[in-house]
Parts: sequence; structure tokens; C-alpha cells
Amino acid sequence: MTAPEATGATRPASVPPRRRTARRIPRPSEIRQLVQLDPISPRPATNRLRRALTVEDLREAARRRVPRSVFEFVDGGAEDELTMRRTREAFERVEFRPTVLNGASEVDITTSLFGRPSALPLVLGPTGFCRLSHHEGERAVARAAALGGIPFALTTMGTVSIEDVAAVGGPDADRWFQLYIMRDRGLTAELVQRAKTAGYSVLVVTVDTPVTGQRRKDVRNGFSVPPKLTPRTLLDISRRPEWWINLLTTEPLVFATVPAGEPEAHARFIDGVFDPSATFADLAQVRAAWDGPLVVKGIQTVEDAYRALDAGADGVVLSSHGGRQLDRSPVALEVLPRVADELGDRLEILLDSGVRTGADIAAAVALGAKACLVGRPYLYGLMAGGEAGVRKVIDIYAAELRRSLHLLGLPSVAALGPGAVRLR
Ligand SMILES: Cc1cc2nc3c(=O)[nH]c(=O)nc-3n(C[C@H](O)[C@H](O)[C@H](O)COP(=O)(O)O)c2cc1C
Repeated sequence: MTAPEATGATRPASVPPRRRTARRIPRPSEIRQLVQLDPISPRPATNRLRRALTVEDLREAARRRVPRSVFEFVDGGAEDELTMRRTREAFERVEFRPTVLNGASEVDITTSLFGRPSALPLVLGPTGFCRLSHHEGERAVARAAALGGIPFALTTMGTVSIEDVAAVGGPDADRWFQLYIMRDRGLTAELVQRAKTAGYSVLVVTVDTPVTGQRRKDVRNGFSVPPKLTPRTLLDISRRPEWWINLLTTEPLVFATVPAGEPEAHARFIDGVFDPSATFADLAQVRAAWDGPLVVKGIQTVEDAYRALDAGADGVVLSSHGGRQLDRSPVALEVLPRVADELGDRLEILLDSGVRTGADIAAAVALGAKACLVGRPYLYGLMAGGEAGVRKVIDIYAAELRRSLHLLGLPSVAALGPGAVRLR
């Protein structure tokens, strides 16, 4: 009902007349209390990172830090980018089912992966050419992972060597090595030995890359490693001078898993990375050469998860390579429930592609994953602010995951189960 005074109607005698709000001059101390300027650091990267609330914020910060061809190499997907979009759409279809008044004042987001503790169910996955994103590259990523208490998987296509990454992060760091079965089986076996000698705990064999998927943006940008100096890249230099100065004044940007200074070895390595003729028999050979946990990355169907198990795998990563390989490939989150149902007691199931928030991790764990890997997200952090940027990414995931558990009414990641989530 409208108030009589507002409509100009007469006020009934029982309602007292409206009193004017009393005004006064505020005391300076009251104003001082309200003025809270965010501390401004002399380091622009610190301010940039402080402002970022989400992985998406860091993505936008990254876009402004590096040449366009580098950003698009990281950010892009294969062909029409359908799989890349669908992986996000699947996470957007997640609906949580909370329970209330459960008295969980603390939540525990820790877990264990292949028998080792992890601060949260998150792994920084293997990504090639990290030193393109930031001149400190894999060293910065490995340190951030060690400080965050989670594993980092170094790729075969690394721009810092197996041994140099192993020297970062201290004795407790959990280091994983990602292997491609290469045409040169001798080199493949050599890398397995080097990873073992350098103290890597888990070997991840990626199997979804018989050839490289086509990322059209890379083709159109004339993307190459190291970047070619063309009229276009020279224009880039003028736009992103800091990135170029860092690139040109630090160690050359090369593949680092083969010894530096041997151009022939390099050429041999690059020509022979992907071998479309590899089979599960090759995987079994890798199994025989590696006595630690073996994970097969790039599994996309329940049938192949069984084959990986038969070849001796301890775990699989359900992955579409972030939508960078076969476009229109299955969406990992949708494949997960069946694989978890049928093989969850025999394989440690990991998932990647499109994991952008701590809530995404909660959903994947609820549907049967032990942990999630991420690729692009930590590269956005790396581009935006080096090691501190990667740490920020880990902090964002941890805070979001903790908040999701609180709001779901669950005390720990171990309590996440299929009852907590459905795909709409
Ligand atoms: C720039 C870039 C390079 C990558 N290089 C490799 C690689 O060398 N080996 C590999 O197994 N996966 C590689 N991946 C795939 C990631 O390990 C991971 O599967 C994928 O990024 C997950 O999707 P997300 O980026 O949406 O998190 C790469 C991904 C990106 C973005």
C-alpha cells in the first residue's frame, strides 16, 4: 500500500508526523577510517596480480603483456575450436547440490596423488615452450608449483632441461615428466632414464598427438619457435619491448631436453617428436623401463582407458589436450563418470581441458577425478607476472575450491561424490 504522505493523502492522526533526518559535521577520524587506499607497489606486475580475481582476469592481463602471436599460440584451439568451447560449456552445465547446517567450520582441500601429498587436487600440466610466455619459463612454473605444494609436469618440449627443472623447488617438490613416444626410440628411452635419474616421480605419456593439430591462428600469425624476425614481428617489438628485451637478453629459446650446442641433435629431435606409428606395445615398453607410477594422458574413451590399464598404466588423464588436437573430440567431463564408475578402483583418474575455477575442480572430483591438470591458466599467470603470476593462479584455484566446499556443506575434497553434482 502506498504511504498517505507520498500520495499527498491526509495523514491519519494515529501516525506521527515525519521527522527530518538530523545532520552533523563528521569528525576527521571517522573519515580517516573510511579512506582505505590499496597499497600501490613500485612493481607494475605486483599491482597487476593484486587486481586479478579470477583466471579470466589473468588471461586479460596476459593478453596485454606478450606479442599477439604468443598469446594466441597459448590461448587458441584446433580447427573450429568446437572442442575447446564445448569443454567450457560442459563445466557451465554443472549444478551443485549443497547440504546445509553441517557444522563444517574448516575444510580440507588436500589430497594425495600416486601416494604423495598434494596441497589441492591440482597439477600444473605439461606445456611446451614455457619460455615463450615468460623468459624464466619452466623454472618459474616449477618453483611456483613447489611453493604451492602441487606437482608440475615438465614436457618433452620444454625450454629448460630435465635436470635444470629438477634443480628448482627443493627436495620436497613433486616433479612429473611428460614423454612423447618419438620416432627416435633411443632418444625416448634416454629421456625416461634422465627423468628417473633426476628424481621425477611420475611419468606421463601423452598419446593424443600422432600429428600436431592445426591451430589456424598460429598458421595465420606465422608462429614459430624461436620467433622469426619479419616485418610483422618487428612491429610487435615496438608494441611489446619488454618481452622482446627479455627474450633477446636471456639464454637462447631452444628445446632443452637435448644437449645445447648440437644442432644436429636438435634437428633430429624436432623432426622426430611425434610418431604416428606408435602403438600400445610401445607404451608397454615404456612401462617396462619406468618403475614409478605411469600415467597415460589424452585418453578420451572408456575403451582406451581399459587398453591403458592393460598396458600397465597406473593412471589416465582424460583430456582433449585443451581442444588443441582433434576438434570435435569428446568432452572429458562428460566421459569421466563412466570411466570413474568402471575403472575408478583400478586407475587414478585425472582430467584436464577447460578447468578454469576451483568450482570446476570440485565438480570434476565429485564426478570421479582424483585431480585436475591445467595448461593455459598457469601460462596466463606466467605471462602476466612470471613466478608470482603462477602462484596467483594456484592461490585462486585453492581459494575457490575451499569456498565451494564450504558452500556445499562438505568438510573435505574426500567428501565430494556424485551426490554433490549433476550436469544440467
Ligand atoms: C601452449 C600449450 C602447450 C602444450 N604443450 C603440451 C605438451 O608439450 N605436452 C602435452 O602433453 N600437453 C601439452 N599441452 C596440453 C596441456 O597439457 C593440457 O592438456 C591442456 O592445456 C589442458 O587444457 P587447458 O589449457 O584448458 O587447461 C599444451 C597446452 C598448451 C596450452
